[in-house]
Amino acid sequence: MADKILVTGGAGYIGSHAVLALLEAGFEVVVLDNLCNSSAESLVRVAGICGRAPVFIEGDIHDARLLDGLFAAHEITAVLHFAGLKAVGESVRKPLEYYENNVVGSVRLCQAMSRAGVFRLVFSSSATVYGEPAEMPLSEDSPTGSPTNPYGRSKLMVEEVLRDLAASDPRWSIAVLRYFNPVGAHHSGQIGEDPRGIPNNLLPYIGQVAIGKLKELAVFGGDYPTQDGTGVRDYIHVVDLADGHLKALQAIACQAGWRAWNLGAGQGYSVLDMIQAFEQASGCVIPYRIIARRPGDIPACWADPARAERELGWKAQRGLADMMADTWRWQSMNPQGYAR
Ligand code: NAD
Ligand code: UD1
Repeated sequence: MADKILVTGGAGYIGSHAVLALLEAGFEVVVLDNLCNSSAESLVRVAGICGRAPVFIEGDIHDARLLDGLFAAHEITAVLHFAGLKAVGESVRKPLEYYENNVVGSVRLCQAMSRAGVFRLVFSSSATVYGEPAEMPLSEDSPTGSPTNPYGRSKLMVEEVLRDLAASDPRWSIAVLRYFNPVGAHHSGQIGEDPRGIPNNLLPYIGQVAIGKLKELAVFGGDYPTQDGTGVRDYIHVVDLADGHLKALQAIACQAGWRAWNLGAGQGYSVLDMIQAFEQASGCVIPYRIIARRPGDIPACWADPARAERELGWKAQRGLADMMADTWRWQSMNPQGYAR
């Protein structure tokens, strides 16, 4: 019988791509999502792409009774834990919501897993745990500890909780995946990122300028010590990211303890590189204006992804042209996101 995987936050941007990858690889999938930042339509689309549907349970990771029932009803072998809040600016305004949802919610999930005897967990962390980096590229041994906002601190806290948990009981096997900047969409154009309101992140913003929903892109800072003065990041295609979770599942099936892996491409691109690449892929002109730096932004950040290649056998396969073409296909086919 195929392994059954619980995916928390599986209706969201990255989670829905991971659900698709799991179904395509033959796993059974149960999704738990409270839809606070997503739509169940993403899972309908996933089923349309691969011809198989996950079990979908609308609910919250804090709900102990629901989790106990879920684990009793389904023989879950491992959990991919995507559920969380992720808007940096909002986390500054509402820190308690972020600690409650991301930290307390993760603790509740682990308690329920422990009661159910499920000890394999893959956690969605972020390169933000490295804070303002002293050296580049960032390896997993680079120091963590000074994220610039409550969102980042909530991710680091969960990493530490999970580290203590693994140290307390050898049955736990935990993969902490530190994502760099996820972008792109499935090549079908059926699933992708569907931010509510005005996007905070670069690619969704560029996409909405391209379809005329937003007037122009504000480039945050033109005076960074980078090749063209704009911020440099390591963009990683969301389908590559989803594949990384399958590799992490394989790894934690064979080893116990806590281990962190960077999931990045290992290559930095500036904001102007991104605008140019998007224009090439889409044929659209992206009007932009360089304004002041965004508070809390760092000049540059990219991964050393060697550990993931060595230990997981994972390496990003898709380059900038794929990221842009897939973003544009999703954006132009779904100008209103899942609302159509
Ligand atoms: P997303 O908002 O699209 O997905 C998160 C999902 O979790 C949503 O479907 C939301 O409804 C659900 N959710 C939130 N709180 C919940 C709760 N208490 N109970 C049940 N469901 C809940 O975000 P995403 O971009 O897919 O991110 C997935 C994970 O990866 C998050 O933990 C995020 O912090 C992390 N991450 C994202 C990025 C990024 O740039 N997208 C970068 C690094 C890390
Ligand atoms: C942001 C978060 C980070 C989170 C990551 C993924 C902040 C400070 N950091 O990272 O914690 O893990 O998203 O969700 O919010 N840019 C513009 N104009 C825009 C938007 C972005 O110029 O309208 C620039 C930024 O200054 C940056 C680059 O584009 O140089 C990428 O920005 P973004 O997509 O927001 O990601 P990060 O800031 O890297």
